[in-house]
Amino acid sequence: MEEIEDVTTRVKELADRKKFVYDDDLLTLVSGAPAQRARLVRYQVVSGNDLIPTATVEIEFDGERRTASAAGNGPLDAALKPAEAALGFDLELIELHTRALTAGTDALAEVIVRVRHGETESTGQAASTDSTEAALSVLGACLPFRLKEGTIGGAAIDATGDPLPQETLDLCRGSDAVFLGAVGGPRWDAGPVRPEDGLLRLRRDLGLYANLRPARYIGLPTPLRDGLARHADLLVVRELSGGVYFGEPRGISTTEAHNTWRQTAEEVRRVAHVAFRAARKRKSRVTSVDKANVLEVSRLWRAVVTEVGREYPDVELEHRHVDAASFEVLQTPHRFDVIVTDNLFGDILGDEVAAVVGSIGLLPSVSFGDGPSLYEPVHGSAPSLAGRGIANPTGAILTVSMLLEHSLGRPDLARVVEAAVAATLRDVRTPDIGGTATTEEFTGMVHQNLSWLRWAHSPEEPDEKTASYGWGV
Ligand code: IPM
Ligand code: MG
Repeated sequence: MEEIEDVTTRVKELADRKKFVYDDDLLTLVSGAPAQRARLVRYQVVSGNDLIPTATVEIEFDGERRTASAAGNGPLDAALKPAEAALGFDLELIELHTRALTAGTDALAEVIVRVRHGETESTGQAASTDSTEAALSVLGACLPFRLKEGTIGGAAIDATGDPLPQETLDLCRGSDAVFLGAVGGPRWDAGPVRPEDGLLRLRRDLGLYANLRPARYIGLPTPLRDGLARHADLLVVRELSGGVYFGEPRGISTTEAHNTWRQTAEEVRRVAHVAFRAARKRKSRVTSVDKANVLEVSRLWRAVVTEVGREYPDVELEHRHVDAASFEVLQTPHRFDVIVTDNLFGDILGDEVAAVVGSIGLLPSVSFGDGPSLYEPVHGSAPSLAGRGIANPTGAILTVSMLLEHSLGRPDLARVVEAAVAATLRDVRTPDIGGTATTEEFTGMVHQNLSWLRWAHSPEEPDEKTASYGWGV
């Protein structure tokens, strides 16, 4: 009985510190169990403002699958109860701590757990997602929502061997919107399956074909020469479902490797429409980027974009080769408005435009398709920042603002989140943009500003012209 109380107390301590509880938190608890090996099959927790946290857990233990559900005082409390019920034994929790792995840049954190069961003591550890947590806490402060979590990438490989388990895909398909931290890390680089495969399959299986990556100068220090980035306000629209990323056949041997760059006219057409429509809400200028002097796929690209452009006579269209465009984006960033380009060039230019804002940690993104949209910050898993607690959660938080606008129909709240981020950036900065704040301090300040702003402003009617990424420091 004492042991249960001890576990409960420590769990509640953690729940106080962590707003969201991840599969891995629980997986760690469970897989750390001595004597028999337990495997977490399914774990769903529903929590949010005005909701009683409830969790359902399915555990494979002793070769048998057990499922249990329970409600709790907080998400972790809710999650632990069904886990204990399914396992049928108590654990004495000796140590439980979380550590930011990549300072939040990739949203990874590590949970380390030490448990005692009878005479045996064992330690388990697993990754969790912390800047995602920061961003979702901001969403939670805006409005009540139901959160369901699935694993993808490295965590999913560790748990199931598959970087995109069917369960995760089903969960995403049944959601209004999907929020993703980042995938990848050196730990999985040498393995037979890569975490990135999970993300690429998710994009393909959700039919996501247009990825929007806005980048706007907001008065922060940038690596560009003084004043060069001023007035820069770009939107990279990246084709996401075709090109060399997905073309078959592809393969590698020790002496040769090959990929196929294939692009259909339809793929170009639908992303071009997204770009022209976006341009109409901005400065009505589209730059289409390709390599038509060398590649057939680019010649088709150019022809189709030109054809679609005729339907938007009010939007100015120009074509650029990718080598020239990459240079011009840094030389004269202010002359670009919307850049539409294929999957590979969009991947590269999407990172390059971070130079006009100051840090890749600042950039949000959304991907549109046939079903639910996918929201992910542009930054990757940045393993070099591991464990330092200083990553910039701005990209993730602004991604939440895009989610509020595009999937939840609340552009008013999106503007408030952007204003709260802009206000925070005035005083509090993480080291990537010349400050000393930790991820946690920054997020705390965003929350403070958010409550001030929400108190000060009642929601306004969204203005079509400014209803996108209209924020600044
Ligand atoms: C991105 C990333 C991904 C991509 C990786 C992680 C597969 O770099 O979203 O830009 O190349 O698309
Ligand atoms: Mg990339």
